[in-house]
Amino acid sequence: MANNIFATKSVDKLIKESESGKHGLKRTLTASHLTMLGVGAIIGAGIFVLTGTAAANAAGPAIVISFLIAGLGCLFAGLCYAEFASMIPVAGSAYTYGYATLGEFIAWIIGWDLVLEYLFGAATVAVGWSGNFVSLLKSLGITIPTAIASAPLAYNGASFEATGTIINLPAIILILVMTALLVVGIQESAKFNNIIVVVKVAIVLLVIGFGFQYVNSANWEPFIPAKEILSDGSSRYGWQGVVAGAAIVFFSYIGFDAVSTAAQEAKNPQRDMPIGMLASLGVCTLLYVLMSLVLTGIVPYESLNVPDPVLLALQVAGPGLKWLYFLTGVGAVAGLASVVLVMLMAQPRIFYSMSRDGLLPGFFGKVHPKYNTPYVPTIITGVVAAIIAGIFPIGLLGELVSIGTLLAFVIVCAGIIVLRRTNPDLKRPFKTPFVPLVPILGILICGYMMVNLGFDTWIRLIAWMGIGVVIYFLYGRKHSKLRKPSEAPSPAKELVS
Ligand code: ALA
Repeated sequence: MANNIFATKSVDKLIKESESGKHGLKRTLTASHLTMLGVGAIIGAGIFVLTGTAAANAAGPAIVISFLIAGLGCLFAGLCYAEFASMIPVAGSAYTYGYATLGEFIAWIIGWDLVLEYLFGAATVAVGWSGNFVSLLKSLGITIPTAIASAPLAYNGASFEATGTIINLPAIILILVMTALLVVGIQESAKFNNIIVVVKVAIVLLVIGFGFQYVNSANWEPFIPAKEILSDGSSRYGWQGVVAGAAIVFFSYIGFDAVSTAAQEAKNPQRDMPIGMLASLGVCTLLYVLMSLVLTGIVPYESLNVPDPVLLALQVAGPGLKWLYFLTGVGAVAGLASVVLVMLMAQPRIFYSMSRDGLLPGFFGKVHPKYNTPYVPTIITGVVAAIIAGIFPIGLLGELVSIGTLLAFVIVCAGIIVLRRTNPDLKRPFKTPFVPLVPILGILICGYMMVNLGFDTWIRLIAWMGIGVVIYFLYGRKHSKLRKPSEAPSPAKELVS
């Protein structure tokens, strides 16, 4: 057992550790905070940016079905997350679930993979935010020079090239401001998040409500356009296009699982974690389906290939919706900012758990003595995400975030099946229904979406995971506290400087 990289950590031990830290994270979040955190992380670049290109280049009006397929994959994964989160309500999310079920090595792999979802996710959405913010300021007559508001590197499919700009400063500033907020307090962050979520949901509802009056149902015909073969041999539309569209719009659902990283700060995690995740997922699925019906109903799908499809729909609708232009710009800026906030909240809580287990150095687990937040990993996450957001283009980052998240979902679904077998008697306040059917369907749908992502993205995922494996064998394996139980200090001693 001593050298077994597949050694698991018992659920009882995980819970006990999370509870015994005198100076650990504080339980202050309610079910509505958690649901708002979920919505905060979900609605963002996906709906405001990706819907248009996915409809134009992949699915046509049937992008609505793509949203349903991606939503179904997330629902199945979400039901599995909910069982884990209610059973093991500690900060590490899928990393910790992996530790309890599949062993230390797989847990490390998941934790490393989640960096793609949260740290890279925050950077990706910050780049999208920067574009929206600059346009919004422009509409107010304030121009920020492109040289300091756009990625200095572009990727041409084979190599990087300089774009001539210097840095994406707005993206960097957003990340640093959110990082500062997260250091000061989880409750302060949750309150700030609540305000932005109300703004963005209200604006999405306005666009849906008023937009429906301008829908021309002829634009929904044919709902699933006939498959077309393109000159490079690839295809679009048809059922294959609908599934390809699901893989693209999957990005818009990423984030509901971030709720589970705040489990250790929830007042009643057993009950509220499942509510937070599943309610936010349900609300967003409904909004996405309605929004995509409105967009494809107002604008012929072929014309939706733009970075701001919602604004285009308002323009096409005519002067009647002109009053919504500016508000929609505000909604997009608010929406993307809250996604960045929640992603930057999630990442340090995973680092915190990994450090507590010895797989990362101790400073990754430092909790602030006054603010009770994991401030050192929060600052590390913020600085690294700011550097990535300041330099790289959005296109390169987005698919990597999706494939990383899908991999985590697949592993979590598999984990539920494993834990039901290995530990059938554990107390499960929330039980995933129809096991093993639901996890298997989650694995199949998420796995199929992964297959639909590009070859380049797969190579990057494999390279990233390769780096993770090397770090594990060079550091984590030697420092793991699970395999040196005598050295494992109490969380209070570990977490506080
Ligand atoms: N779901 C988040 C977004 O769409 C990542 O921006």
